[in-house]
Amino acid sequence: MTESLLKRAFGAPAEGSAAPALTKPAAGAAPADAAPAPVVIAIDGPAGSGKSSVSKAAAVRLGYGFLDTGAAYRALAWHALEHGADTSDATAVLEVFGDFDYAISLDTRDRWVRVGGVDVTTAIREPRVTDAVSGVARVPAVRKAVNELFRRLVASAGLPGVVVEGRDITTVVFPDAPVRILLTAAPEVRAARRSAELTDHDAAKVAAALHKRDAADSTVVDFLTAAPGVEVVDSTHLDFEQTVDAVLSVVDNTMGARDGR
Ligand code: DC
Repeated sequence: MTESLLKRAFGAPAEGSAAPALTKPAAGAAPADAAPAPVVIAIDGPAGSGKSSVSKAAAVRLGYGFLDTGAAYRALAWHALEHGADTSDATAVLEVFGDFDYAISLDTRDRWVRVGGVDVTTAIREPRVTDAVSGVARVPAVRKAVNELFRRLVASAGLPGVVVEGRDITTVVFPDAPVRILLTAAPEVRAARRSAELTDHDAAKVAAALHKRDAADSTVVDFLTAAPGVEVVDSTHLDFEQTVDAVLSVVDNTMGARDGR
């Protein structure tokens, strides 16, 4: 079932996609003159740890692409809501996953997310989608297919490197990435950052929603504990630029050690 879902969901490039290769599964072995596989910088972390903005800034400074993996789950939640599906019902989620035609840009200068050719870049950040996303992200067949898609997107990006951020990126999606980082921050700091982002929201409500989502997500993926070999960057006492610098210094040290520098 997963295999057919995979083919149906991701077999064809999205209409209007500027980068059709992104949604196309790689067929067979790479040709001898193919570009080397991109360097993967895998970054995990909970909501409000700053992982998305920090990862993007790190990608810009490295001249790499950026893959926000949460966008795929958000886009699927958006797609499910469009179909009136109950996102807490795994069977209903799998049903709408069958015609989920997803495309995303890895270009930091031109970021977009599309479902069936519709630009959902902004829509997937709406609170109704945020409220529904944990339901779709906990379906194992969805995770398996989406994780495969992430590997294909990175492999076919034609970029020197890609910073990939999300949950279980360091452990399941790219366990062999040369650089693997868990970005954390104390819960109260994460809640404060989230409420500062959402100006018209009550801070207490934001903290409650964030803790609820952490609790729901942590039943599926342990994103608060670093797996062996994963470097922790704790941003509790760091500002944005200091956090980006801390991430880049892990990249530099790890790649330097790998290259014998
Ligand atoms: O990072 P975000 O808030 O955009 O993530 C949206 C949701 O998707 C969140 O509930 C966690 C989940 N997610 C996941 O389970 N695995 C990932 N690799 C990325 C996100």
